[in-house]
Amino acid sequence: MMNPKHLFALFGLCGVLAAAALPAGAAGLQMSKHHAAVIKDCAVCHTQDNAVAGNAFVVPDDKVCMSCHGSYEALAKKTENLSEPNPHRSHHYGTGLSCTACHAEHSQPRAYCNECHEFKYTMP
Ligand code: HEC
Ligand code: HEC
Ligand code: HEC
Ligand code: HEC
Repeated sequence: MMNPKHLFALFGLCGVLAAAALPAGAAGLQMSKHHAAVIKDCAVCHTQDNAVAGNAFVVPDDKVCMSCHGSYEALAKKTENLSEPNPHRSHHYGTGLSCTACHAEHSQPRAYCNECHEFKYTMP
């Protein structure tokens, strides 16, 4: 199958397919294991409102995540008793880091902090 990034480039060139249509190759993409059972429609995250340059099939905005998971502050409360520093309220970024700097939907999540640190997070 073609790399979805290439498909994007193609759609970018056409410029007409905009957000309504699902990019052909994207149908094979799986949702994350934590969302597969609870979110049935891709358009829950990939909306025109979140579209970047007219293409809804790019990284969605944090506001979608927060519409279900609550505010950054609420998340920070949930993770304040970890043995490692709170990823949702950090020394450098406060509550300003995009959710998708760490969490992912169709690929492996990775704690951005560990570009520099070696924190032992269990990344969901
Ligand atoms: C339509 C509502 C909805 C949206 C939108 C949504 N989620 Fe979720 N998410 C859920 C539900 C429901 C669960 C499973 C129950 C739970 O763990 O809260 C879940 C689970 C998760 C988990 C696993 C939590 C755990 O304890 O293992 C993570 C991480 C997560 N979501 C992150 C995100 C991110 C990042 C986004 C935005 C890209 C997002 N979610 C968008 C509803 C949503
Ligand atoms: C710096 C990396 C990072 C960022 C940015 C981040 N998270 Fe997390 N998130 C984590 C880690 C790490 C955990 C798991 C901590 C643990 O249990 O070890 C987590 C846990 C969660 C959970 C499960 C919380 C629980 O215990 O019930 C949800 C839901 C979640 N994140 C959603 C989000 C959303 C939504 C955003 C953006 C508003 C976000 N995260 C931003 C790293 C991050
Ligand atoms: C919970 C929110 C959420 C849902 C639901 C969701 N996505 Fe995504 N999507 C994302 C995020 C976050 C990214 C950024 C890349 C990543 O996390 O892997 C993304 C990226 C993409 C991309 C860009 C290609 C890539 O991998 O970089 C495509 C295409 C895509 N999604 C298609 C889909 C399709 C098709 C569905 C339905 C089966 C779907 N998405 C459901 C959050 C979501
Ligand atoms: C680009 C590299 C880089 C990234 C990414 C990064 N850090 Fe740091 N961090 C540092 C450096 C360098 C220091 C020491 C200087 C300072 O305190 O700012 C530090 C210091 C810290 C400290 C203080 C340590 C102490 O003993 O006083 C904490 C806590 C911390 N980081 C947490 C985080 C968390 C949580 C994340 C992810 C949300 C993160 N860092 C991401 C480079 C980074």
